[in-house]
Amino acid sequence: MTTGTMIYEGKAKRIFTTGNPDQVLQYFKDDATAFNAQKRGTILDKGIINNKISERLFRLLEQNGVPTHFVERQSDREMLTKKVAIVPVEVVVRNVVAGSLAKRLGLKEGDLIQPALIEWYYKNDALGDPLIADEHVRLLKLATPEQLVEIKRLALKVNSLLQPFFLERRMILVDFKLEFGMHNGQLILADEISPDTCRFWDQTTKESMDKDRFRKDLGKIEEAYQEVLRRVCG
Ligand code: TMP
Ligand code: ASP
Repeated sequence: MTTGTMIYEGKAKRIFTTGNPDQVLQYFKDDATAFNAQKRGTILDKGIINNKISERLFRLLEQNGVPTHFVERQSDREMLTKKVAIVPVEVVVRNVVAGSLAKRLGLKEGDLIQPALIEWYYKNDALGDPLIADEHVRLLKLATPEQLVEIKRLALKVNSLLQPFFLERRMILVDFKLEFGMHNGQLILADEISPDTCRFWDQTTKESMDKDRFRKDLGKIEEAYQEVLRRVCG
């Protein structure tokens, strides 16, 4: 694998070109941010852990008919993926009340949400990724109505596959964020699925095993990420 040129740097990953114009390399960093990068830090070995967890989950989803950008994990911190044009909509799926939902609507953290709730956020750092409705997606031309229907179908399918997977590992999948992209005219799942982009609670203690430990200064951040890795890949 030749080291290509960096074409994008996000808060947790860098994207590089490869010898294949159809594929890019995702490099997972240890950098952690919260509250639209107002809070910054480092979570030791997070990049390695998130790369491995994402690989396991992308493989599970692919095996069950969800198209993803995953090609192969190339090293501890590098994942080869299909090159996509990212749909600038962050898709959040919620099974349990937590985070911004509890705050925004005054709902009780920990209450079950059935059926799962899907929300759209406009992927725009300058605006702080605001919550938007279907009509805003249309107004801003972020996705076509047909793409939105397909995104919803795939997001619910991802949820129905991941919920039991995590329960078997004694974890509650509270909520998570997905990003989709277009590849050769097909909508596929992109980005990563990791403790950075999901909330996991231990089934017994209900303790956070994800980036909330960083967001809320709960301590034992590295330990939590390592434990998720152990339960998911161990
Ligand atoms: P929220 O409750 O803060 O809106 O977060 C919902 C889910 O989305 C949670 O699992 C964390 C994830 N998330 C991201 O992946 N990136 C983000 O920038 C934010 C705000 C949340
Ligand atoms: N990653 C986001 C940021 O720093 C926020 C978060 O995950 O809480 O903007």
